[in-house]
This record gives sequence, C-alpha cells and structure tokens, in this order.
Amino acid sequence: MRSDSTIYEALGGGQAIRQLVETFYPKVKADPLIGPLFPEDIDPVMEKQYMFLTQFFGGPQLYSDVHGHPMMRARHMPFPITRERADAWLACMAAALEELGVDEDLRHFVLQRLSGPAYHFINTGSEQE
Ligand code: HEM
Repeated sequence: MRSDSTIYEALGGGQAIRQLVETFYPKVKADPLIGPLFPEDIDPVMEKQYMFLTQFFGGPQLYSDVHGHPMMRARHMPFPITRERADAWLACMAAALEELGVDEDLRHFVLQRLSGPAYHFINTGSEQE
C-alpha cells in the first residue's frame, strides 16, 4: 500500500468494501460468541457497516451523511461486549480478508486499524454483567 493512499483505495474501493462486508457477516452470524447478538435480518446491519467502513477506511463519508456522528462506542453499549467477543469479531474480519485474497501486509494493517475500536468497545468483563 502506498503511504499516501487510503485503506479504502488499497482494498479496491466501494465494491471491495461491499464484498468484505458480505464475506464478514456470515462468519459473524455463525460465531457462537457474537452471532446471537445480531438480528435475524442482517441486511440493514451490513448496509450500515458498508457505509461505516467506507468512511473509516478513508472513502466517502457515507455513514455520517445518513446516520450522523458515528458514536460507535455508544451505539455498541446495548450489547455486552467482552474481550473475547472483540477477539471473535476481529477473527471473523481476519478470516474474511484472507478469504478475499487481500495481501498479508494490507491485511495486518487493516486489522490493526480495527483492533483499536474493537477493544475500545469492550463494555463488560463477563457475560453475566
Ligand atoms: C468488538 C466486537 C463487536 C461486536 C460484538 C459488535 C456487535 C455489534 C452489534 C450487536 C451491532 C448491532 C446490530 C443491530 O443493529 O442490532 C453492531 C452494530 C454496528 N457495528 Fe459492531 N460490533 C463489534 C465491533 C465493531 C467494530 C470494530 C466496528 C467498526 C470499527 C463496528 C461497527 C458497527 C457498525 C457500523 C454498526 C451499525 C451501527 C448502527 O446501528 O448505525 N463494530 N455491532
């Protein structure tokens, strides 16, 4: 990835983000730790994630244009997010990036960028709380 380009560009733009989201959510839904947190109809979540990741990775501000300030930690507060769940979320993303053939350096860079927010969203130490 060139140092002056965005992750959005390096991954291949909007179509690539769309593909990433479509590869990621089936893994999320199938994961025993995080799958049950998501609604049966995953399409609206996928659309929001497509918009969010597009802007998070340096593309057009699609999410903010429609939904306003991301406030992602606050939006995740209704869900009990443990360290194990953050790890599971990142593992699904790692698997999706690998499945799509994203090269290793870029994959690690993307995961590093996502691990900040993922661990920041932890809001409980155990499922019981
Ligand atoms: C740490 C582990 C994570 C878990 C367990 C988790 C789980 C969830 C859940 C349960 C929802 C709500 C689905 C619904 O609408 O009912 C959600 C929404 C969302 N998540 Fe996460 N998430 C995690 C990390 C992340 C990360 C790292 C990002 C992006 C950096 C992210 C971006 C989003 C977005 C954009 C939405 C939609 C927000 C909206 O309603 O507008 N999530 N997540």
